[in-house]
Amino acid sequence: MIVLGISDSITSGAAIVADGRVLAAVHEERLNRQKMSLGFPAASISEVLRIASLQMKDIDHVTVATNSLFWIPKPVKLEDYFRKSRGGQSRDLFLASGSLLAKWTGGNELSREVYHQVKSFLTRTRRSHIKETLSSNWGYSGELSFVNHHLAHCASAYFTSGMRDATAISLDGAGDGASSHVYNVRDGVFRLINKVDSYDSIGNYYAYVTHLCGFQAHKHEGKITGLAAYGKNSYADLLRDFIRYEAGKIRNVGGCFDWSAIKKLQQKIGDQFSLKPGAGRWSVRQCQIEPATP
Ligand SMILES: [Fe+2]
Repeated sequence: MIVLGISDSITSGAAIVADGRVLAAVHEERLNRQKMSLGFPAASISEVLRIASLQMKDIDHVTVATNSLFWIPKPVKLEDYFRKSRGGQSRDLFLASGSLLAKWTGGNELSREVYHQVKSFLTRTRRSHIKETLSSNWGYSGELSFVNHHLAHCASAYFTSGMRDATAISLDGAGDGASSHVYNVRDGVFRLINKVDSYDSIGNYYAYVTHLCGFQAHKHEGKITGLAAYGKNSYADLLRDFIRYEAGKIRNVGGCFDWSAIKKLQQKIGDQFSLKPGAGRWSVRQCQIEPATP
């Protein structure tokens, strides 16, 4: 069986797998020179077909990662995720709804459900757009399926691991309403045994801190993690008032999310360290980094 896999999320791209063997894989950013491009990867699809010396009529199945996502027809460079109006009005409305619901309700079960439904509503047209684009660009009208964001993460790790039985764990910012899935995998069969709601995402806190330090969220978290090794453990207690691990669960106890979390974090850090960051984000110059002791 020959499968074309597509990802239209951050760092979008395409791959062709034939009977479990990867024939070709490429990220859109390599073709359009737009770093961490997100959006429908039309150039990547054409490129993997070319590399594999195949035509769309040879493809048995097309599968797309993530069920619920904003439709971006032409890939764009990743810009600062939390800056308003960079990702379109739907994305802004989505961020605002999560931010306000968390602020008003503390993230109770009902508000989480409303939040997930809002995203589902705002992203509802993506599936039909993808189907139409595959048909109009390449004449494809065959099988098309969408795979849960975290199952896609775990499947890519499992099927390239060489293991028969495994525990597969994903842990990221968010995707399809969750920030983590844990699967028990036996001979290629995935059984979901645990998950963490996107509201309780510890990954999102990496994004908030990255943004507050003046870097780009969803892009520079690795830099922040590396720089943390050179710093002092000054913010641990403060962060535990926002997110913590207790009773076997990661819990967002701060009662905030997205924009409201950034605002509250900025306020608390300012209060604790008597800093006056002004209206904008923290400047990188305000971060005091000491050299590591040998
Ligand atoms: Fe992810």
